[in-house]
Amino acid sequence: MDNMNHPYLRLLKENRRITSGFQYTIPSSDTYPYQWLWDSCFHAIILSHFRIADAKKEILALLSKQFQNGMIPHMIYWENIKRMGFPKIKWGKEDTSTITQPPMIAYAVWSIYQKDKDKSFIKKVYPHLYHFYRYLLTERDPHGNQLIGIMNPDESGEDNSPRFDIPLGLPPVHSLKENAKRRFGLVAQNIECKFDAPFCMRNFFWVKDVPFNAIMVENLRLLAQIAASLGYSEDADFFASEAENIVSAMRKFMLEDGLFWSTFGENYQKIKVKTWAIFAPLFAKILTQKEAEKLVKKHLLNPKEFWTEFPVPTVSISESSFDPQGFWRGPTWIATNWFIYKGLLNYGFNGVAEQIKETSIKLIQESGFREYFNPQTGEGLGAKNFTWGVLVLDMRS
Ligand code: GLC
Repeated sequence: MDNMNHPYLRLLKENRRITSGFQYTIPSSDTYPYQWLWDSCFHAIILSHFRIADAKKEILALLSKQFQNGMIPHMIYWENIKRMGFPKIKWGKEDTSTITQPPMIAYAVWSIYQKDKDKSFIKKVYPHLYHFYRYLLTERDPHGNQLIGIMNPDESGEDNSPRFDIPLGLPPVHSLKENAKRRFGLVAQNIECKFDAPFCMRNFFWVKDVPFNAIMVENLRLLAQIAASLGYSEDADFFASEAENIVSAMRKFMLEDGLFWSTFGENYQKIKVKTWAIFAPLFAKILTQKEAEKLVKKHLLNPKEFWTEFPVPTVSISESSFDPQGFWRGPTWIATNWFIYKGLLNYGFNGVAEQIKETSIKLIQESGFREYFNPQTGEGLGAKNFTWGVLVLDMRS
């Protein structure tokens, strides 16, 4: 195992917190002083290379606030909200949010297990994982159409992405304030619905998002491997076949002319806004080699779309919604680059993957561990000392 002396790892140490006996890593002390779901999975993936005990603690803290129905909330307020000065969001619950985030937990657990083969750890976390993924497969797919629905843009992890403008009833250009108002409006409806996803919430916002489903596919496959390692062969078969069912449904409902589009509503209307989401299927090996080649050549390496000075912008520069400083409306983020990097390796695009790794490292060297970056100038934006930037250390084959 690599040692903990790499200079980037200082950030993980600085952002580590221990509350009520639980250890976790906050995304950024000035902006995000709590625990977030997919951030914690990324932190655990990084830690799995260097400090496996801390990686396990990160996951255990995340699982500790699982809801009775299996859902794992995307935020855990470990510290007093008032004292931390964080804007108070009315989730309808005091200590956590009431929505989830991209289900990267099985991937993080598998990364940990690969390093030390500690069966007692996977045995301990397996029941939580089982209930979480079962929750997504049932409550978020009530009619068995094999696509997982999200009920708030924040569940995608890309809060104000233009993928959600049409379902939110917003034009391609609008203020962040207006966007936030709509998203918090959904939270209020969520409370009124008593958090009933299948019968109530989906009447207000019901999106089958490409990255969320691609992430689900890859995680279900790894969950199947975790189950198999524990000798639960029926579960292993079940999760493996659910993964492939989602792949088929993605191809059926989302794919058009070589691109996968997120959909909304009961009748799967495609949201044809070009964002990095078109590359997310590479991460879960959903495309054929030929499809992948076309996608990379025509879109990723296209300077009029995604091949900017500091790729990969989260939104194509050809979109009217593209804003190089607009949070999830254009800037380059290290986590999305990490997904694309892994996806490119799946198809043997090692040279392109290497370029993305190099520009990601350059962004950090020149602008620091900022939350996101201007894809054209490299300027650092948003929160400072943002932990998941250290994912560049996991950009390896
Ligand atoms: C922002 C991001 C979200 C992330 C959170 C904490 O809300 O949009 O993806 O999980 O910050 O870093």
